[in-house]
Amino acid sequence: MKIAIIGQGYVGLTISVFASRHHQVVGFDLNLKVISDLNKGTSHIEGVASNDIKDAIQVGKYKATTVPAEIAGSEIFVIAVPTPLDTNRKPDLSYIDSACKVIAENLTGPALIINESTSYPGTLRNYIKPAIEKYSKQKFEHYYAISPERVDPGRADYNQKNTPRLYAGLTPEAIKRTREFYSTFCDNLVEVSSPEVAEAAKLFENTFRQVNIALVNELAQISHALGIDVRETLDAAGTKPYGFMKFSPSAGVGGHCIPVDPSYLADVAEKAGVQATFIQRANEVNLDMPKYIAGRVEKDNGGSLKGKKVLVVGVAYKPNVADTRETPAELLINALEKLGAEVTWSDPVVGSWHGNDSVALSGADIAVVVTKHDVVSAAEILKSAPYVFDTTGKVKGAVQL
Ligand SMILES: NC(=O)c1ccc[n+]([C@@H]2O[C@H](COP(=O)([O-])OP(=O)(O)OC[C@H]3O[C@@H](n4cnc5c(N)ncnc54)[C@H](O)[C@@H]3O)[C@@H](O)[C@H]2O)c1
Repeated sequence: MKIAIIGQGYVGLTISVFASRHHQVVGFDLNLKVISDLNKGTSHIEGVASNDIKDAIQVGKYKATTVPAEIAGSEIFVIAVPTPLDTNRKPDLSYIDSACKVIAENLTGPALIINESTSYPGTLRNYIKPAIEKYSKQKFEHYYAISPERVDPGRADYNQKNTPRLYAGLTPEAIKRTREFYSTFCDNLVEVSSPEVAEAAKLFENTFRQVNIALVNELAQISHALGIDVRETLDAAGTKPYGFMKFSPSAGVGGHCIPVDPSYLADVAEKAGVQATFIQRANEVNLDMPKYIAGRVEKDNGGSLKGKKVLVVGVAYKPNVADTRETPAELLINALEKLGAEVTWSDPVVGSWHGNDSVALSGADIAVVVTKHDVVSAAEILKSAPYVFDTTGKVKGAVQL
């Protein structure tokens, strides 16, 4: 089958590589540099091997393009574009809208249109289908389905093949076609009764993480005030074999999903007349963690950070990826600078960020570890400054969160 995958980022490229083992895949994206690199067989996503892209190109199963006409004639279109929040922290579906437009303008017959982007319940039925119909010149009966993506970039144990995949469609034929497509490269498909259930389940998975991370971050603050080691407490609670799931404290949440998706649920809840209070409070706790950490560091260092050289270690939002979207490191840097510190950052995986390059792990008065990549040794971090504050629990000998 010819499959067009709209968006060649974390989700779209991952799917493209798996799907290209069985189908003819055209990866469409607006980013010229990404497309040019992909056509040279160079991956820009951790967890997607350049060799896999090269192999797929060589056997004629994958092509990346910025040319809309090249997706024409596809039997399946997969939407994998960003779904961020706007400046008011409300759902921004403008990328979905532009993906629908490019699909609609290149439909040559009835096609299966699957949304993999995360959005609120009702998006497939009330937004994507009407948008495709609005932008299409020819009126075909298309098949609409949803299969929210669960990829965890950088993770080795779970991938497209062994991660159970939810799916639902607007019609029985859409459901059948979706099952046939994903069963070519995914072992465990879970059909749910409506697209809205699949959309809500995806949002709830990430809301569950966001709320629990906020809960342990609050526990970290309580534990410090009581003089108790929070990680030992969590390890102790984690020995209970049922009814408890361990989360770890941190500088906050980052990435494209955990800080964003719960607000999609909160927004749709508000429109339905329900106040999503847990989500609101969890957002506040997580967003306040950098300020709390800066305050702890200031207190430990004579009550002032004025003129002190502070090195933030690890600015990616999680270990072993270069992704800095919504990283708590940004809020931490702002909080430290507000307290008068001279802040630099070190992260060899990210390399360059906001027009600045990663600096060496040395010469600071204070180091604050936000993210510890495997390639950065704890011993090197400990040597970088006389005072090291660790939010990750991975730098033994440092002051712990
Ligand atoms: N990154 C993750 O770990 C993850 C996991 C599960 C679900 N998701 C969801 O998947 C969706 C995509 O996320 P991502 O992380 O892959 O984003 P990304 O930013 O890595 O990639 C999106 C790509 O879409 C391209 N794009 C934007 N508008 C386009 C258009 N109109 N036509 C073609 N290309 C377009 C961008 O240039 C970019 O390359 C989001 O809804 C996200 O919430 C992400």
